[in-house]
Amino acid sequence: MTSGASAPGKIILFGEHFVVHGTRAILAAIDRRVTVVSSIIDESVIRIESALGSEEMDVSGSGTVPELRPFEFLAKRMIREFSHAGGIDIKIISEIPHGVGLGSSSASCVAAAASISGLFTRNTREEICRLAVEAERTIFKNTSGADCTVCTHGGIITYGRDSGFERSGETPGFQLIVSNSGLVHSTEKVVARVAEFKKRYTERFNILCEKESALVRTVTKHIRDRDSGGIGIAMKENQVYLEEIGVSSDALREIIRYADSHSLGSKITGAGGGGCIISVTDEPSPDHIIKKMQGYGIHSFGAKIDHTGLETF
Ligand code: MEV
Repeated sequence: MTSGASAPGKIILFGEHFVVHGTRAILAAIDRRVTVVSSIIDESVIRIESALGSEEMDVSGSGTVPELRPFEFLAKRMIREFSHAGGIDIKIISEIPHGVGLGSSSASCVAAAASISGLFTRNTREEICRLAVEAERTIFKNTSGADCTVCTHGGIITYGRDSGFERSGETPGFQLIVSNSGLVHSTEKVVARVAEFKKRYTERFNILCEKESALVRTVTKHIRDRDSGGIGIAMKENQVYLEEIGVSSDALREIIRYADSHSLGSKITGAGGGGCIISVTDEPSPDHIIKKMQGYGIHSFGAKIDHTGLETF
């Protein structure tokens, strides 16, 4: 018995970090996926194979590779819930670079939640998303749940920790370019740094949350009106807030400077501290911008919005 699932990666268009503290964010799923294939096996072991490492453990034992904890959690949860006497074999294949803010961890958790639970039962997308967030919390306790939500549902969404998500029905009038700094970050550490900032400068942080909320409201209108210029200006504004809370760096600022000169606006996407920059353009093809960025030695590529979200097979 085998069960497969795949989920897209993501970018955060607006509101990363602030979303952890209750502000709404705008995210988009992108056309790079993680695929997970799980099989029932007779031996009482959990076997996990991925580019981040491979491990085999007794169903009552524990693994040693921290990045594989979400898969171990999901397998054990299902084995327990369905009183499964054997074990589970899990294979993870990813097209998304790890640790650079493009949702490789969330997409893996969503695809694994669907694939592993699919061996025993049929869950709704909402149930799978909840399971994926629980799995992700084994490696990143304070996740807002935004990333798993967009990786499950696809498209462009507005997400709030308390208000849930809303899908934008619009086809965006812009093209996205992703520029990868190649600097791997730990989302958990950068999120903890922002929590420190909030503790020290509470009043200022609250003002920034209000500014971010207003920006998200404005951008929602820009998306509806297909106003790419407005979205670019808003990205530059959002980057100012991200600079202030300390998640940028000289290397990221340099990429943004190049990217801004060839696009309508750029910003960090995801946790920052490394990872990727996104830029927006209203040109039908971003190819010449990508070439220019590559000319500066920056690894850039075009990202299309994935409207499908989670798929099972
Ligand atoms: C990471 O992709 C986005 C953060 O806002 C964390 C989160 O929302 O869980 C930094």
